[in-house]
Amino acid sequence: MNYSQILKKGEDFLKKSKIKNPNLDTELILSKVINKKREEILLNTNNKLKIKDIIKFKNYLMRRHQKEPIAYILGYKYFWKHKFLTNKSVLIPRPDTELIIEEALKYLPIDKSKKILDIGTGSGCIVISLLKERPNCSATALDISLKALNVAKTNAKLHHLENKINFINIDIDKYKSCNYDLIISNPPYINSIELNRLDDDIKFHEPKLALSGGSDGYRDLKKVIIKSKKLLKINGKLILEIGHRQKNQCLKILNENSYYINYISKDLSGKDRCIISTKLQ
Ligand SMILES: C[S@@+](CC[C@H](N)C(=O)[O-])C[C@H]1O[C@@H](n2cnc3c(N)ncnc32)[C@H](O)[C@@H]1O
Repeated sequence: MNYSQILKKGEDFLKKSKIKNPNLDTELILSKVINKKREEILLNTNNKLKIKDIIKFKNYLMRRHQKEPIAYILGYKYFWKHKFLTNKSVLIPRPDTELIIEEALKYLPIDKSKKILDIGTGSGCIVISLLKERPNCSATALDISLKALNVAKTNAKLHHLENKINFINIDIDKYKSCNYDLIISNPPYINSIELNRLDDDIKFHEPKLALSGGSDGYRDLKKVIIKSKKLLKINGKLILEIGHRQKNQCLKILNENSYYINYISKDLSGKDRCIISTKLQ
């Protein structure tokens, strides 16, 4: 079988399984199997495949048919300007989360060495992207999941930042070290009703620990806001990703805890996604 024939078979199969981007996913899978760029495949469609590669291709295709996200099958996802290893222990980095990077960079002058804390680091995509942009800064990254933290550590090594980030496997409730200039967090914020309505790709494959914010979705947002008040320096910034219908309740919790609200930033589809606030006292 040649590239063109296997791509056609793969695309038809994924179309029938109602996968959203059947062509792209099939090309990416073939690219992983034969370790060649998509462009190279598309320029050499008459090349023949080895039997062992056809078997590999079918296995990966079957995983995608079962709605496993393509980022887990490929083992990576691009975020901001870099490639991050991903597996089922971590949330797949989302484009909307790049908003945290854009906002955080505004508070991290290029020549200053600020202290950053990332609560719920997952793959480490936020903290690693920030330190790549601001090499004078240092950071701590926490996660309650040891498996997630191991992925974050591997990603830090891959980007030569293992000596700049202190990774700690801990529940944010128990963390005590303070004096941070900036805290960033994309905590789990989906409520139990919405959790059941998520696409199968997310619901059955991404870690519940990274998605579920308790019955009302605010369990971890509240924890992060309350705890950050203790961990931030006076005038330190908290940059928080929220669900698009959570703005008012989050602003209420921030106000109750005496934060100054700087502004709310919208995501690529115009939804409220990120709150930037300051610890005043
Ligand atoms: C929504 S994911 C975000 C991952 C990554 N920061 C990103 O933006 O792609 C939330 C992360 O918080 C971690 N987490 C959940 N509850 C936590 C807690 N109580 N303390 C520390 N980390 C927690 C989860 O394991 C998960 O990795």
